[in-house]
Amino acid sequence: MKKMVILGAGRLGCSLGLALKASGYSLSAITCAHKASAQQSSRILDLPSFYSQPEEAVPQGNFIFICVPDSQIRPLVRKLSRVEIDWSCRFVYQTSGLLSSSVLQPLKKLGARVASFHPIQSFSRKKTPPAHWKDIFITLEGDKEAITAAREIIQRIGARPIKLDSRNKALYHAACSLASNSLVSLISLASDLLEKAGLEKSLALEALKPLVNGTWKNLKKSSPAEALTGPIVRGDLMTVREHLKALKAFPLAREIYQRLGLLALELAEKRGLRPSQVRALRSWLQDK
Ligand SMILES: NC(=O)c1ccc[n+]([C@@H]2O[C@H](COP(=O)([O-])OP(=O)(O)OC[C@H]3O[C@@H](n4cnc5c(N)ncnc54)[C@H](OP(=O)(O)O)[C@@H]3O)[C@@H](O)[C@H]2O)c1
Repeated sequence: MKKMVILGAGRLGCSLGLALKASGYSLSAITCAHKASAQQSSRILDLPSFYSQPEEAVPQGNFIFICVPDSQIRPLVRKLSRVEIDWSCRFVYQTSGLLSSSVLQPLKKLGARVASFHPIQSFSRKKTPPAHWKDIFITLEGDKEAITAAREIIQRIGARPIKLDSRNKALYHAACSLASNSLVSLISLASDLLEKAGLEKSLALEALKPLVNGTWKNLKKSSPAEALTGPIVRGDLMTVREHLKALKAFPLAREIYQRLGLLALELAEKRGLRPSQVRALRSWLQDK
């Protein structure tokens, strides 16, 4: 029987615990760094208690999920490697997007089967409902047996496993950050510019939401090249020139507009934009 232990029941760990429980798994122990946080997580997870020390929690289960901040994984693993239990019947996963399963090497040496288990999803609160895991992708790299066991868990919680080469984790995680964190930064920048254009602060972000939703709907149905709209794919030089003039007072926004514009131009070329239009737009977008 699989008995789950979550070390670090924070935003991801607690959400994972909810998903595991909803899929019928037994959650036998959780820990947090602070008592108040552990109390909150045990309430959310409907557990009667929590463990204050990870060393006391690990003997309670055979599937250990390490969901602490990246910087805390190595010291925690060192601590765990001093726990005298039979590691050969245990599977240990860590959820960092950047670090590979090699951080779990001290436990592997003791016989544990180890892998990294990284959901390509953002969890902004502990109480994220299990539906948030539905159809998301979870990347795995590490021991064959740990990956096989994780695949079964992933499918049961409604997600989809992907195997990743550990050498590519940094590049993989940079890509995920671009799609999620950079998107948030970009929308925040656009909202600031709307304010400069005279919209009230409370309205600026609201006004962008239907636009972003509409764009996302288009992207869900088609490729990025097909989903692209706007002046670049139309070859509308005058509009791009006026945008760049208006952005002169905001150098960072202008630089981002130009860099992303060059990427949009590559997509526009795929869509068949005429070479003369591509050349003209490129010279404006490369203009300092
Ligand atoms: N959140 C996401 O969207 C997301 C998505 C994919 C992957 N991840 C990965 O998941 C991991 C956790 O991220 P998170 O966003 O869930 O962070 P978080 O909300 O800050 O949760 C971290 C948890 O670890 C506990 N903790 C911190 N230091 C510890 C230590 N030294 N020993 C034991 N427990 C400790 C914290 O306890 P306290 O609450 O008491 O401080 C908390 O329960 C990271 O590796 C991150 O890369 C997160």
